[in-house]
Amino acid sequence: MCKRSKSLSIQGDRNGSFEPILVPKHQRRIAGLDENILALYARGNSTRAISAQLEEPYLMKTFAMKTFTLNDGTQIPAFGLGTWKSPADEVRQAVKTALELGYCHVDAAWIYQNEQAVGEGISAAIGSGAIARESLFVTSKLWNTFHRPQDVETGCRETLSALGLDYLDLYLMHWPVAFKPQASQHKNPEDFYSLDELPLSQTFEAMLKLREKGLAKSIGVSNFTPSKLQRIITETGVVPSVNQVELHPYNPQNELLAYCQAQGIRLTAYSPLGSGDRPDSMKQKDEPPLLDNETVNAIAQTENLSAAQLLIAWAIDRGTVVIPKSTHASRLAENLAAATHTLSAEARAALDAIDIQYRYVSPSMWFFPGITYQGDSFWC
Ligand code: A2P
Repeated sequence: MCKRSKSLSIQGDRNGSFEPILVPKHQRRIAGLDENILALYARGNSTRAISAQLEEPYLMKTFAMKTFTLNDGTQIPAFGLGTWKSPADEVRQAVKTALELGYCHVDAAWIYQNEQAVGEGISAAIGSGAIARESLFVTSKLWNTFHRPQDVETGCRETLSALGLDYLDLYLMHWPVAFKPQASQHKNPEDFYSLDELPLSQTFEAMLKLREKGLAKSIGVSNFTPSKLQRIITETGVVPSVNQVELHPYNPQNELLAYCQAQGIRLTAYSPLGSGDRPDSMKQKDEPPLLDNETVNAIAQTENLSAAQLLIAWAIDRGTVVIPKSTHASRLAENLAAATHTLSAEARAALDAIDIQYRYVSPSMWFFPGITYQGDSFWC
């Protein structure tokens, strides 16, 4: 746990009063997550409002968020809030509620088109005293139109401005795919730079400069395979801090995990619950819904967890950061509660043994025969 930085948080005592106290970064003091509290959060109450409404004085408890140390020495909370697919009018409240519940990590991206609302949620939570900026870990991602080195800072500044922040804790290259910014749509091969024309290492190097300018504390990538990671490491001499990829029992990516562990790259698991709310255009007929998997549900019962909680606990047990998305207060709380669950060895082994291979997120709309981006080589 990070011991260096301290931040203000609120602590309730048996008399129901709230005093600012110093707690280590990423350790939050939050209300015990019982049914009554969840119902109050679900009705949109803030932590302070809830404390005032409780009939009995309620003892706040310390929630120590597990963190991982990145290869640049910074700490990343093992659990965070995903915001892909969250409508702007819902995500504002979802982010605020999450931060009041005890979340301290929010994952955003330029292309999600909701960064301003995410930022408003962050600002509301900071304003209400639920969390301090220094205790919060915010990730965002460079979109494919900003890959040219001269465009990288613009992409980052657009994100910072939308979020209302002056720095990001982590900035990722969203995809190993470079769009020509002047093309209005990216539906033809000529709308893309090939990776020879605009190597990923050039974009990565420009992103590293953002660290020197204080715009981002850590720099990483997303959707990279071992061969693409190795190429930018060889060409720049710098190892990315994080690689964010789709990870869950149907797509455990064991080889990638082993490679990243050997290189000191932390994996973050996106779509950890199977992203059932993806648009229909991204879904295939008869795809297997992860949350309905029989093994997942049977083990969840023996662990006294919901299926979603089990998948979250499994991801953290593997040493990966996990960012489940929800915009519902009760699920936000349910998912957070899983972040401190210790998974049994039997549960871990049973989930590891699930023998279904399925990837929910595919960039197939960018695959064209004969150019850099092709289905058969993209994930190799
Ligand atoms: P909602 O946002 O309506 O709560 P992923 O993180 O893999 O992209 O999955 C997100 C999907 O999983 C969303 O549809 C989200 O719904 C749903 N979800 C999030 N948390 C839970 C939960 N605890 N139980 C069931 N579904 C959940």
